[in-house]
Amino acid sequence: MNKHTTTRKGVILAGGSGTRLYPLTQAVSKQLMPVYDKPMIYYPISTLMLAGIREILIITTPAEQPRFKELLGDGHQWGIHFEYTVQEEPKGLAQAFTIGADFIDGHECAMILGDNLFYGFNFARMLQSADKRKDGATVFCYHVKNPSAYGVVEFDDSGKVITIEEKPENPNSPYAVTGLYFFDKKVAMFARDVAPSARGELEITSVIDCYLQRGELYVEKLSRGTCWLDTGTHNSLLDAASFIQTVEERTGLKIACPEEVAYRMGWVSAEHIMEIAIPLRKSGYGEYLIQVVNEVHPL
Ligand code: DAU
Repeated sequence: MNKHTTTRKGVILAGGSGTRLYPLTQAVSKQLMPVYDKPMIYYPISTLMLAGIREILIITTPAEQPRFKELLGDGHQWGIHFEYTVQEEPKGLAQAFTIGADFIDGHECAMILGDNLFYGFNFARMLQSADKRKDGATVFCYHVKNPSAYGVVEFDDSGKVITIEEKPENPNSPYAVTGLYFFDKKVAMFARDVAPSARGELEITSVIDCYLQRGELYVEKLSRGTCWLDTGTHNSLLDAASFIQTVEERTGLKIACPEEVAYRMGWVSAEHIMEIAIPLRKSGYGEYLIQVVNEVHPL
């Protein structure tokens, strides 16, 4: 694994009302729900870590913040640093940059939605190249069956992006914008000026459109060798869990195990991983961490 580390800041938006998953989410935040063998938020955290990001802001609802803190702490266990803040009401994804402006503090940043899962060939390398682009915005799109449920990118015949639209009724292309965005230092300024859309939300699509209008938007198509899943409905949550189970059972390797990513990135030592692993042996998670240490660098 390429041991890339960046000064880019990471933001995970893990608020929202989760009403589409009621009653599951009546008492517990969606992003704390299990996706097979780990809490959902482990997946976006691992994605940011693979991009080399070590400072991460976690935005939650006010009620749920204590539970996220209990689960994730300050991040030192994974060689990273977490900060926490709240979104009082789910007013839209673009609000993450105004809420997080002090944390971002004029750095480049990457935002990922707390319910988005990515997995696939060369994905870490793709993230790391997006990180190296210091000007403009990079977003990732993915061919989907139901584009009208997402932000949609339209390309002209030469492959140039011409429009980006939020949940269009008649989508001009099958390419959905995924919930992972790399922005340069201008993002907080653009987000501040975004006006609510017809459905009353501060849309991330409006922020991306600012970059498109300036000729500073880069859209990377995720290949068929990559899997992008979101977990907004009961079926998609179950599909995601089944997918993770199938791949993990077949390979004996875990998807989105933050301890493993931290270790492979060289951010924590083998001894540190063993200290985490021993008390977790019964769950199998601990056994897995011991296997990682022994396979990557026998103690
Ligand atoms: O998943 C990718 C899609 O995410 C993009 O294609 C769309 O352009 C983007 O708008 C977004 O669409 P969704 O319909 O998935 O957005 P949703 O309202 O479901 O919010 C996504 C996650 O963010 C969800 O887990 C809840 C959380 N959230 C949402 C809002 C509106 C917040 O934490 N705060 C918010 O204000």
